[in-house]
Amino acid sequence: MTTVVAGANGLVGSRIVARLLEAGEGVLASGRGPRRFDADAAYVEVDLSVEPEKLARLIESAKPDGVINAAAMTDVDGCEKSPREAWALNVRAVEVAALACARTGARLTAVSTDYVFDGVKGSYTEDDPPNPRGVYARTKRSGEEAALILAADVAVCRVAVVYSGRPGAKKTFAAAALESLRAGIVPVRVADLKLPAPRPLRCGLRVDKVRRLLGESVPLPIDAALDRFLAESRT
Ligand SMILES: NC(=O)c1ccc[n+]([C@@H]2O[C@H](COP(=O)([O-])OP(=O)(O)OC[C@H]3O[C@@H](n4cnc5c(N)ncnc54)[C@H](OP(=O)(O)O)[C@@H]3O)[C@@H](O)[C@H]2O)c1
Repeated sequence: MTTVVAGANGLVGSRIVARLLEAGEGVLASGRGPRRFDADAAYVEVDLSVEPEKLARLIESAKPDGVINAAAMTDVDGCEKSPREAWALNVRAVEVAALACARTGARLTAVSTDYVFDGVKGSYTEDDPPNPRGVYARTKRSGEEAALILAADVAVCRVAVVYSGRPGAKKTFAAAALESLRAGIVPVRVADLKLPAPRPLRCGLRVDKVRRLLGESVPLPIDAALDRFLAESRT
């Protein structure tokens, strides 16, 4: 099996590339600028804001079995300030990838977010109606629809609270919290911060289906996840 992975330099994309290679799968990775992940996969530079059609051409020439899109504009406040850029990445690039998948028969997996929910109810299932707030959340939801409407064979995979303690990894909420605590900064509630974009405050996702599909150990229980994060951040 061959999979095209877009967003391969990112937190999620780089792990997807590594896991596919570990499983013996063929990978064609793409990302913005030079390669910044360790794995030994073929790599093509594609700036999706400037030339999303290059990704479509890559899909059409490689004819992969699957395409996983982990590329996105993930800076939530940045999206609020630059909505056109957010639309180009989070909607238009997904649309282009979905159409290429429809033409070639590849299965598209579009990575999305818990932010498609408003965070009032919490503990969301995939059947709960989305109610995205803010440009990041609304563009990610629109990207989900682009994938679901345009790709013939498609899955939307909503992930939440991605973290990494690896040195050099993008700063995530977990790393920022650890850094602040080490510096003696007292935690405050997100709701009390005056951030440009709204945040869903109670946004857990139910993982029963993922457990059923992937096995009991995925995702990791919270204590195991914290242990792994701390071990990574000490290396
Ligand atoms: N992080 C979280 O807590 C979280 C939570 C829920 C959902 N998600 C979703 O998970 C997915 C992956 O996010 P992540 O955490 O892995 O974020 P990330 O580390 O920011 O990865 C996103 C990737 O998209 C790439 N990208 C941005 N603009 C691009 C462009 N113009 N052309 C090509 N590539 C571009 C980035 O490239 P550069 O490396 O060059 O910036 C980056 O490698 C996204 O769909 C996100 O919405 C993340």
